[in-house]
Amino acid sequence: HSVGIIGAPFSKGQPKDGVECAPNKLRAAGLLERLQQQGCAVKDYGNLTFENVALDEPVKGSKSVRTVGSANQRLSEAVKAVKRDGHTAVMLGGDHSLAIGSIHGHTAAVGPVSVVWVDAHADIHTPLSSNTGNIHGQPMSYLLYELQSKVPPLPNFSWMKPCLSSRDLVYIGLRDVDPEEHYIMKLLTVKAFSMTQVDQLGVARVMEETCDYLSKKPIHLSYDIDAIDPSVTPATGTPAVGGLTYREGIYITEYLCQTGLLSAVDMVEVNPLRGRTEDDVHSTVSTAVDLLLGCFGRRREGNHLPDYSLP
Ligand code: ARG
Ligand code: MN
Ligand code: MN
Ligand code: MN
Repeated sequence: HSVGIIGAPFSKGQPKDGVECAPNKLRAAGLLERLQQQGCAVKDYGNLTFENVALDEPVKGSKSVRTVGSANQRLSEAVKAVKRDGHTAVMLGGDHSLAIGSIHGHTAAVGPVSVVWVDAHADIHTPLSSNTGNIHGQPMSYLLYELQSKVPPLPNFSWMKPCLSSRDLVYIGLRDVDPEEHYIMKLLTVKAFSMTQVDQLGVARVMEETCDYLSKKPIHLSYDIDAIDPSVTPATGTPAVGGLTYREGIYITEYLCQTGLLSAVDMVEVNPLRGRTEDDVHSTVSTAVDLLLGCFGRRREGNHLPDYSLP
């Protein structure tokens, strides 16, 4: 695997400080070295810098719209460049509003993609349906062709156009979906494996059905760390009880890796200033690293490099 890493230290899609610290925390936990040790070629594109738009008053209830728009424009360009350089793009967030730029940039470089969205939340509010005004709860509505007429023109978003069909989206891990979001998902008949389906079918069957359902387009995996149970990954802004186990979470990455279609990965919502203890933060960060390693060939049965020979 050839991996291009982009740090996106951005938090303005939600109100809690700390999520912008995650890219450096994930690097400090040895992400790059460990990817290299397992045989990946890794290029670190560094952290993006984002402009803080002054006087960014709420627009139709949504907060920091201009700041989020401009950050995602930069991110989209960065992901596009990483894909054009021939790497699998890894975007280290930051909050989940960054999926707008990441998926947009990915499709700008490679054409239509499939999205596997692993999350406790659907993040499919429109700016008008959102109760919180936090854009990290809205990215999917900006991306979907089918919701274009429901998303008003927003300042600093004129650079982006919807680039995803609801037919090319699968959710896994849902358990905290607002009524407005549930309505949208039924209206568009979005494929979703909530925690109920994970309980019913088991994660192996969920992954089989996910990949049967999706056409063979390049896969964009958008992994919100709050998909995993907060007993394992408590350091996140909107934890939700009853989540994926560590093993289920890792299985998703192992399975997507072996499809050979994984083309971009987001790891978002790790917040090193959340969680009650040092251990809480460590467990969250190290799980996020393990999920990324799973995306790029790490197997629990063990691995060895192709050129290894016994001493
Ligand atoms: N549905 C809630 C909202 O609209 C929570 C969204 C949480 N999203 C996330 N990316 N963690 O604000
Ligand atoms: Mn979430
Ligand atoms: Mn809500
Ligand atoms: Mn999310």
